[in-house]
Amino acid sequence: MEINNTFPKNIPSKHVSDSAIEEIRPVFKADLNSQNRLFGGTLVTWIDVVAGCVARKHSSCNVTTAAIDSLQFKEPVFENNMVVLQGRLTCVGKTSMEARVDSYVESLNGDRKLVNTAYLVIVALDEQSRPVPVPRLICDTPEEKAEWEAGIKRRELRKKRREEDF
Ligand SMILES: CC(C)(COP(=O)(O)OP(=O)(O)OC[C@H]1O[C@@H](n2cnc3c(N)ncnc32)[C@H](O)[C@@H]1OP(=O)(O)O)[C@@H](O)C(=O)NCCC(=O)NCCS
Repeated sequence: MEINNTFPKNIPSKHVSDSAIEEIRPVFKADLNSQNRLFGGTLVTWIDVVAGCVARKHSSCNVTTAAIDSLQFKEPVFENNMVVLQGRLTCVGKTSMEARVDSYVESLNGDRKLVNTAYLVIVALDEQSRPVPVPRLICDTPEEKAEWEAGIKRRELRKKRREEDF
């Protein structure tokens, strides 16, 4: 099922699964903070890169990050852990795409714990660095449809916050 999209009908559509990616990052000494845990800013960089790659795959354009929603670090990550980052699109507008990135810490025995769920807004750019329309998004599963609906609500909330300068 294809939901939305209110934008140009001649623009092609792509499935959520077409651009979903998983990336695995081993944690090295250089990634640690003074408490010997993964530096939060490094994780944010990894999340941003994964969201950008998802958005590039969907739009086939260069992209830039317009917003990152609130971040919480629920589990510490230590040297020699693996961080698994799963990224996928949840919702698209005309030129912007919302990507969800789930980050997990995986220990040697394969146990995975959720560290963070982040939503990022990524905008597709043309050769002149101007926002450019993106393909429509086909949501196939009930989970993808629910994410779409939630993404629309988050989009409205972000817009309201911008209008109120909050
Ligand atoms: C993101 C950016 C390209 C938007 O440009 P703009 O001239 O404001 O363009 P528009 O107002 O047409 O917005 C384009 C889209 O981005 C969305 N958008 C813009 N600013 C946003 C924000 N702060 N939060 C969420 N969405 C935003 C708009 O809703 C619009 O979405 P839509 O086309 O799907 O409806 C521009 O603000 C920019 O270059 N920002 C810096 C981004 C950057 O350098 N990031 C790297 C980290 S510093």
